Amino acid sequence: MNLDELIAQAEQAFGAAADAASLENEKAKFLGKTGALTELLKDLGKLPPEEKREQGGKINGAKDRIEALLNARRQALADAQMNARLNAEAIDVSLPGRGRSRGGIHPVMRSWQRVEEIFRSIGFDVADGPEIETDWNNFTALNNPLNHPARSMQDTFYVEDKDSDGLPLLLRTHTSPMQVRYARHHVKHGQPPIKVIAPGRTYRVDSDATHSPMFHQVEGLWIAEDISFADLKGVYTDFLKRFFETDNLQVRFRPSFFPFTEPSAEIDMAFTSGPMKGRWLEISGSGQVHPTVVRNYGLDPEKYIGFAFGSGLERLTMLRYGISDLRLFYEGDLRFLKQFN
Ligand code: PHE
Repeated sequence: MNLDELIAQAEQAFGAAADAASLENEKAKFLGKTGALTELLKDLGKLPPEEKREQGGKINGAKDRIEALLNARRQALADAQMNARLNAEAIDVSLPGRGRSRGGIHPVMRSWQRVEEIFRSIGFDVADGPEIETDWNNFTALNNPLNHPARSMQDTFYVEDKDSDGLPLLLRTHTSPMQVRYARHHVKHGQPPIKVIAPGRTYRVDSDATHSPMFHQVEGLWIAEDISFADLKGVYTDFLKRFFETDNLQVRFRPSFFPFTEPSAEIDMAFTSGPMKGRWLEISGSGQVHPTVVRNYGLDPEKYIGFAFGSGLERLTMLRYGISDLRLFYEGDLRFLKQFN
């Protein structure tokens, strides 16, 4: 057998093996236990010593050569496999990253947070209460008895369940029932001063550019032995200056009526920017708490007096950013919302 021919055969067979498994099969044909070279080496024994050495050297040379061809092919196949993988799993590191934007705080929630911060800093507690209320807390305790015409000021969503008086439960139309809840709870555990704000969701059958069926209010209540209407003006004006970060505000307290305050005022503020510039917007009801309501807190109105206010958080936000339509807050349009983050 011509060794050069054998080497050429091996080279051809290894080259034709397309993957590692078939290459190992081909290897067996030449270098395996019954492979061509092994057979040749076995036959060496039959030769005379002189020839044995010479033939042995040649066969071993051929064996080295075939092993080298095998290793080269192994490496080539491994490289090809790696290259195929690298191509298939290629990552273009020059592509821009896939943006994952951070969520932002809704502008009305931002106002909510600011209001809490400001009132906390002047000693107000912050309270939270239920959105489904009893008729008594929402109306009657606030000097708004059944069948009183003032009830029609607030168009109400009723719930089918009844309270313990057999009256319908309702979605609170304002945060003012929190005056009653907080004050009555407070009175059980101690005496005034009562100094609290209660921000939260409120509901009315109402929908236009400045009204939404669900909206947010923040109630404020300060009751002690000597809290006057002047304190209301002072505290509220100071709050507005801090909320809007300017002393240069156009604000007016306009005489008004609420069953639960006497005297009462609506607080209006003028837009200083945006499409509504120069127009007035009502931001809050307010007043000196009515003696009947103080009595319903469980306190003696001859001894305790104070003020309450209930402000619209959407309204404050509209004024802060010069927004003309409050419905924008609830449409979920990111082009609108992104402007605030
Ligand atoms: N609750 C009133 C409203 O929603 C606002 C208000 C609160 C008025 C407290 C006076 C005192 O219209």
